[in-house]
Amino acid sequence: MTTNKTTCKNLILDYKELGIQIVKISRIKQLNALNTETLEELKETLQVFAKDTTVRVVILTGDGDKAFIAGADIAEMKDMNTSQGVRFSRLGHDVAKLLEQMPKPTIAAVNGFALGGGTEMAIACDFIIASENAVFGQPEVGLGIIPGFGANFRLPKFVGLPRAKELIFSGRRVKADEAFRIGLASFVYPVEGFLSKVIEFACEISQKSSEALRASKKTINELSETNGLNAKLDAEAQTFGTLFSSYDQKEGMSAFVEKRKPKFQGL
Ligand code: CAA
Repeated sequence: MTTNKTTCKNLILDYKELGIQIVKISRIKQLNALNTETLEELKETLQVFAKDTTVRVVILTGDGDKAFIAGADIAEMKDMNTSQGVRFSRLGHDVAKLLEQMPKPTIAAVNGFALGGGTEMAIACDFIIASENAVFGQPEVGLGIIPGFGANFRLPKFVGLPRAKELIFSGRRVKADEAFRIGLASFVYPVEGFLSKVIEFACEISQKSSEALRASKKTINELSETNGLNAKLDAEAQTFGTLFSSYDQKEGMSAFVEKRKPKFQGL
């Protein structure tokens, strides 16, 4: 299979035969956590791939063998205020919407930790393929915030409302086998050869009619949700941002950076 690799600062873009475009987030030292710069690169890149007719399927994955995306960048978010929090959430929404509404299939190849914004980007894709070491979760309430990249809206669609609430309220981690059982992941493959298995599946899809795929995705999306989508996401962004004025957000995120347990005050 021939490939054509391009590198942005925080992304590795790898085009393979049969229209398979891999977008690999590459901030290995931060376990591919999403900072503003990476989100902006993703937004720009996905806008290009949405229009590029040589791209037939997009695979989103993480660089290295440990993480897909370990969430939004906590070190960057720690000192944000409300308006910066709202802006950051909206940027995450822009990227997630590009994955969700791209006129071609998007697959999340979850190869390790997919926490917070990581699970949120995965569930913005059309479906998830997980490696055996994948770990999902929404740990935000343990940081004094709520999910801000769309999980309040999208997670219930994958796993149902009570399960989504249970996962968001508890922040507990979900391993690949459970993710498969509860409908988060469509397939689970061994770590060794994982990406090749995902590409193999993407190739099967990419050879179908791109026009029928586009129409199918648009119809499924329209019938299943989008009424008032922007207003729903805006409500999430506002609430997410408001929490950046709270004591618990500063304490929760400082505690992570300082590698200690947070002492929340409910303020
Ligand atoms: N933001 C910034 N840096 C992060 C990060 C994140 N989300 N996750 C990991 N890192 C950094 C760590 O700070 C550490 O950096 P140093 O080496 O400089 O100390 C490095 O990545 C490796 O991490 P650990 O040493 O913690 O690795 P570990 O194997 O012990 O644990 C982990 C791995 C369980 C994923 C742990 O790193 C972790 O819990 N990360 C945070 C997960 C999280 O809470 N994500 C949600 C963020 S909030 C969010 O996403 C909001 C939203 O909805 C938009």
